Amino acid sequence: MNQAKLHQINILENQGPRKPEDLDMLFEQRLATNLTIIKDLFFSLYPEASHMGSFKKLLQELPVLYKQRPEPLKLQDIARLKQGDWYQSEQIVGMQLYVDLFSKDLKGLEDKLGYFEKLGVNFIHLMPITPRPKGENDGGYAVNSYHKVDKRYGTKSALLRLTKKMRDKNMYLMLDFVANHTSNEFPWAEKAMAGNFKYQEYYHIYPDRTIPDEFEKTLPEIFPLTSPGNFTFNSKMQKWVMTVFNQYQWDLNYSNPEVFIAMLGNLLKLANLGVDVVRLDALAFMWKKLGTLSQNLPEAHSLISLFKMCLQVIAPGVVFLAEAVVAPHEIIKYFGLGTMKGNECEIAYNATLMALLWDAIATKKTALLYKNLQNLPKKPKEATWVNYLRCHDDIGLGFDDRYIHEIGWDAKKHRKFLLDYYCQNIDWSPAKGEVFMYNPKNGDGRITGSCASLLGLEKALEQKNKAQINQAIDKIIMLHGIVMSYGGIPLIYAGDEIGTLNDYTYLKDNTKKEDSRWINRPRQDWEIVERLDAKKNYHSRIFFALQQLINLRKQNPVFSDHNNLILFDGHNPHVFIYERTSDDDGGVLVISNFSESPQAVTKISLGPYGSIANPKDLISGRTAKFVDDKLELKPYQLYWLSKA
Ligand code: GLC
Repeated sequence: MNQAKLHQINILENQGPRKPEDLDMLFEQRLATNLTIIKDLFFSLYPEASHMGSFKKLLQELPVLYKQRPEPLKLQDIARLKQGDWYQSEQIVGMQLYVDLFSKDLKGLEDKLGYFEKLGVNFIHLMPITPRPKGENDGGYAVNSYHKVDKRYGTKSALLRLTKKMRDKNMYLMLDFVANHTSNEFPWAEKAMAGNFKYQEYYHIYPDRTIPDEFEKTLPEIFPLTSPGNFTFNSKMQKWVMTVFNQYQWDLNYSNPEVFIAMLGNLLKLANLGVDVVRLDALAFMWKKLGTLSQNLPEAHSLISLFKMCLQVIAPGVVFLAEAVVAPHEIIKYFGLGTMKGNECEIAYNATLMALLWDAIATKKTALLYKNLQNLPKKPKEATWVNYLRCHDDIGLGFDDRYIHEIGWDAKKHRKFLLDYYCQNIDWSPAKGEVFMYNPKNGDGRITGSCASLLGLEKALEQKNKAQINQAIDKIIMLHGIVMSYGGIPLIYAGDEIGTLNDYTYLKDNTKKEDSRWINRPRQDWEIVERLDAKKNYHSRIFFALQQLINLRKQNPVFSDHNNLILFDGHNPHVFIYERTSDDDGGVLVISNFSESPQAVTKISLGPYGSIANPKDLISGRTAKFVDDKLELKPYQLYWLSKA
């Protein structure tokens, strides 16, 4: 825990806030404690000699933003400071969804809160609900406003009613802060296009190709097929605009401190809607520098820390999730490095675990998974992961080539194998996915498809192959069981809890057909949900298995994240074993089999869990039996063994 947080807690322990003045006093104290850090960060990005005025403006802005925060949220902030690292609790289980595809609108979502409760979900990530351009808009990641509600989802009061109701039910809300770029319809962009120089400085805008060409020498392409290059010519201005993602997403110029100050205001307006976790979208891209990839730059880290420290002063109950789907050793840096440890993002997507679980499914081997996890630096103790299998995006194979080589595989061929396995280029593969953004220049490609379709359910259903259907279900449950038990917040992608298959309707929509990520953005099928209790079909088998895993997670405090995870070597290339350790005897050993044939692990490789006669499997409720000193695992079986 950082000094500022400690200091706060000391005060809080002696006196709880009773009156608004108490709250204000605590704000003043937070400001005083963090001011030096804020100042240092600010001047590290914007040199003092020329930016004193902007710093003064920031200082004036902080109390104004604090005043705008509704009192119930201020009280919640204090309660959270008292409680400590609430986001690491085993009680939190999440779901990610598109409001329109899930429940039509926000009112509809309010009516569905019971569905989340039934499954055990109490943390919801709503995909962007802010206004966006009419045509292509990257699923709302091209924003026309940071805090208004797009009409299609309802009104701001519908959102406030929802967040209030969620708070009453102890549910958490995550919303995106698309900090790297705005849409080309955002008021700043429109003013820039109208020739307003002040707002042209809010973006990276150049009169000719000189600087863009310099940038292009080192910048990679994010969407090479649909949006090649990183700059777009704007005919209104007759100038070039930096557009790293899509042509209608203009990258903000954070080297201008006015942009930081204005965006801080937008961040707080978003937080004040009752958001518990702010998902910092594409944060790795926030600082640009000629001659670099302009990703993961030290300045980007300072900038995020600066946002964080200001948030810590104004709304300390709100935390950041880093959406950094980058190399494993880069992801970990978003928790804050060196003196900034714990002062950047509290949560990050565990994209490393996600991608490597898909690797282990395709190869039926866990070597690469182990290799990467073993070499990952330990995260700070106040940090945690979001663990997930699928999200609205593609699966990138962003893990290091080095480790692929170290286990004796050819990295290029291995990546090609994974693309072929998941994207219907290998006859024997059960997976049905699509290639996303294949770049023939370097052979890079990513994978899209729903969890169930990638794990073979769609193909097995088409072939009416019962054994394969069962196997796909086992895989779905096993992988979710890993996500539920690995330290962090499990995030289920809406629809996966009922085994939703690929959705091909995007091909008929002109605004979506070029983006195959829409294949795994299906509409929630409420008819299936209604029949869950009555029928024993694959939907209900998956749903109730996940429900049970969630219940078990919540009953076992060992699943809260305190870096209490140890990898075990099962001496079997197909198994993945880790212990969630506990100071008393309450640890749990998670064992999974990534092979389609039965496997065994010796008693001895299970350490203390092998030396007791009959460890209990929490999932089946039965004792696990050793045969010839070995524990047997069926294909894709998952154990959660406890010593008790
Ligand atoms: C993030 C989002 C992705 C979007 C991109 C640009 O990576 O997850 O969907 O395309 O940012 O905003």
